[in-house]
Amino acid sequence: MSYRPARGQSEAERGEGLVGRTCGRPSDRFVHGLPTRHKRVEKRAPEPNDRSADEEDGPAAVTPGEPGGELGPPWDDLLAAALAAVREAADPGTLEAARVRFLGRNGEIPAALRAVGRLPAERRPAAGAAGNRVRTAVAAALTERAATLSRGELDARLATEVVDVTLPGRTPRQGHPHPLATTRAELERIFATLGFAVAEGPEVESEWYNFEALNMPSGHPARDSHDSFYLEDALAGEPAQGEGRLLLRTHTSPVQIRHMLARGGALPVRVVCPGRVYRRDDDATHSPMFHQLEGILVDRGISMAHLKGVLAEAARGLFGAKTRVRMRPSYFPFTEPSAEVDVSCVFCGGTGCATCKGSGWIEILGAGMVHPAVLTAGGYNPEEVSGFAFGIGIDRCAMLRFGIDQMRLLFEGDLRFLEQF
Ligand code: PHE
Repeated sequence: MSYRPARGQSEAERGEGLVGRTCGRPSDRFVHGLPTRHKRVEKRAPEPNDRSADEEDGPAAVTPGEPGGELGPPWDDLLAAALAAVREAADPGTLEAARVRFLGRNGEIPAALRAVGRLPAERRPAAGAAGNRVRTAVAAALTERAATLSRGELDARLATEVVDVTLPGRTPRQGHPHPLATTRAELERIFATLGFAVAEGPEVESEWYNFEALNMPSGHPARDSHDSFYLEDALAGEPAQGEGRLLLRTHTSPVQIRHMLARGGALPVRVVCPGRVYRRDDDATHSPMFHQLEGILVDRGISMAHLKGVLAEAARGLFGAKTRVRMRPSYFPFTEPSAEVDVSCVFCGGTGCATCKGSGWIEILGAGMVHPAVLTAGGYNPEEVSGFAFGIGIDRCAMLRFGIDQMRLLFEGDLRFLEQF
């Protein structure tokens, strides 16, 4: 049942007389506009200005609602008290207290309604109906008062709080790729233009892929230089039969072996393998974790000249068109012959500076012709095919590209550093 207040009336007035004035002061007033569905309990002649008397199914005529009266409990007293409490509640907390007091589970109105059950049977319907109307009227008054109070709160906040629309907005900080990520992407792009695909492999590798297949049998002195991180046997689980112990890969060359085996003898083999690698090194220019991009090309008739051409092209792509490369003889177990490859100093252009220690050259990678034992391990016949391989330090390239002198800076995640790129 909805409660529609007549315009211009206070809450109290609207509720007043709902069941008539009480306790020996019978009211002759009706509340207008309160729809009721119960039957009239008492007939009475309508007064000329009493609109409700004309309404069909209008409100009940009144009977004093004293405890023993026709309508049972003192409904009008309750109604008046409840409406007064609602009207006087100046804040939501007080209003809630009024609700609990009158309509709560153990409140006064529910208690009075329970008392109706103890009236003589013939008086219960009218008394119950009167009580229900009181409950409805109080509930409606509570709802309306709550709305008024919250409107008032909002008005007060709107009146006191000030929004300064001229303040500058808070711009969300924008992220951007890490210098290592851009360098790696740039290298991949350069080698893609030269026909190289990208292959990736596991960072936890077996000794077979990381050493054995790369012509470094156990006991080979070159294993020392790799200062490997081996996994504890308990952590490592069972390595595959014949693959030896597990370790964090010390280079991405094992991916080249995996890729050759996956190609199953098909030609050409032409991939670059970027990724993280791990060695027990830690100083200004070394970190125990760093990044490599290794490449391999195997086909018929591949020579050192192809290697130099590809590397020169890559160096020009990465450091600029004027960059030159040179090769110095070196040694790697997996290539023969092997070379260290230098680029003309990216800072001084080759005239000599502090970074290149006056030499005009900076070493950036190792390379060579793939050793026959490695081709065999990868499933290729060294009598029929040949190939070259190279390994570039991505971190070193990034340091040269951006003029960074501490490798640690690349891994510390300090925004003051990273935001410069
Ligand atoms: N795998 C070598 C390393 O990590 C780099 C390399 C790759 C050298 C291929 C020569 C040829 O040291």
